[in-house]
Amino acid sequence: MPGPFVVTGLIGRKRDGGELRQDEIAWLIAAYLAGEVDDAQMAALLMAGVIQGFSVQEAVALTEAFVASGDRVDLGGLHGPTVDKHSTGGVGDGTTFVVAPLLAALGCQVAKLSGRGLGHTGGTLDKLESIPGFTVDLAADRFRDQVNDIGLAVAAATGDIVPADKRLYALRDVTGTVASPALIASSVMGKKLAGGAQHVLLDVKVGDGAFMPDDAQGIALAKLCVSIGNAAGRRTGAVVSDMSQPLGDAIGNALEVALAVETLRGEREGRFRRLCLDLAASALELTGVPADAATQRAREALEDGRALERFRRLVEAQGGDPRVVDDPWSVLPRAPVVRTWSPGDGVIARIGCRRLGELAGQLGAGRRRQGDRVDPAVGLELTARVGDAVSAEEPVVRIHARSDADADAIVSELAQVVAVQDEPTDPVELVHARVGVG
Ligand code: URA
Repeated sequence: MPGPFVVTGLIGRKRDGGELRQDEIAWLIAAYLAGEVDDAQMAALLMAGVIQGFSVQEAVALTEAFVASGDRVDLGGLHGPTVDKHSTGGVGDGTTFVVAPLLAALGCQVAKLSGRGLGHTGGTLDKLESIPGFTVDLAADRFRDQVNDIGLAVAAATGDIVPADKRLYALRDVTGTVASPALIASSVMGKKLAGGAQHVLLDVKVGDGAFMPDDAQGIALAKLCVSIGNAAGRRTGAVVSDMSQPLGDAIGNALEVALAVETLRGEREGRFRRLCLDLAASALELTGVPADAATQRAREALEDGRALERFRRLVEAQGGDPRVVDDPWSVLPRAPVVRTWSPGDGVIARIGCRRLGELAGQLGAGRRRQGDRVDPAVGLELTARVGDAVSAEEPVVRIHARSDADADAIVSELAQVVAVQDEPTDPVELVHARVGVG
């Protein structure tokens, strides 16, 4: 490892708006993993960087340091194009459960390294672990073999794969240091590069429920990720999509798995399904399939049940109870208290997306501190979006809680989070921009 450098000097330089060199960043990440830089020092440095900003060179150096911190998955020799997809994180955003099996059904080899819940957003791994028996801890060899056997694997970037991201991700989650383009880009792209796929599709979320609040910052993050990926020789593209309101109708771990299964079973329409199809078609396009053909193939594989069958094989291969595919609620954990709420008669004018994510977290679906256990059963269902007409008789939010007191606490907040008006208003666009695809 280069260095050693004086960590307090690096923190001070970042605090004062200076830039860290590539060798300093390589040392810092290695020293943190080795226990020579402690959590407090790393958190101070991250916070300084979040406030002052990191340069593109620092983002590239961070990505390289992440990749160098562990093993790389070698996907060479697999038949079919290797594809990975990653969302920068949102609320009700479980597209992986539909997109990954869809791509596998279309002949791609999907090697997906995922993360846990972060801040107010849910995490793919936490959601998958709500399926009884499902393991997300696959060693690099098993991960590769599973992709070879069934066309897909979804695993934690833990242990020997990008261990630095695992440590930093958990630290950022509890120190308010998530929302930095460079930290997000290096965290995402470190996992993508170590994961070994030749084609990488990013779903960069923008809006109140995302880490990037507006299109300008979302597009900047998308361009940063795409340039890091392309510079590393991976065909990389990004869809910049709406997170001003939850994507799917479910927010919470088991609830989101159930929604995804119902979508794979053809039982659900709406924004979640539309974005899943768009992401699958965009990823296919990166592998060289023309856009129109990619869209048509993705729709066919969803409608004829091939994607559902791939999901079944994924669950079986990773030890989960496959009955989740036929009847999700026969195996998924249910919350003991279900309460409904409506904002009254009118047209939905505003949904506080981040706040809904936080409320799901408050119910137990997310973490407050490093190491907290998430409650797989709790969360929220939201049946309407901006522009939809609703009535006082129809529930708009369904609260799944551990106790009556927990449900009461959410009900007392919802009037500030979901608002109606008398006048009609337009629905919100789902896809805001594309970088390197479409
Ligand atoms: N997703 C990631 O993998 N990392 C981040 O930092 C944010 C979202």
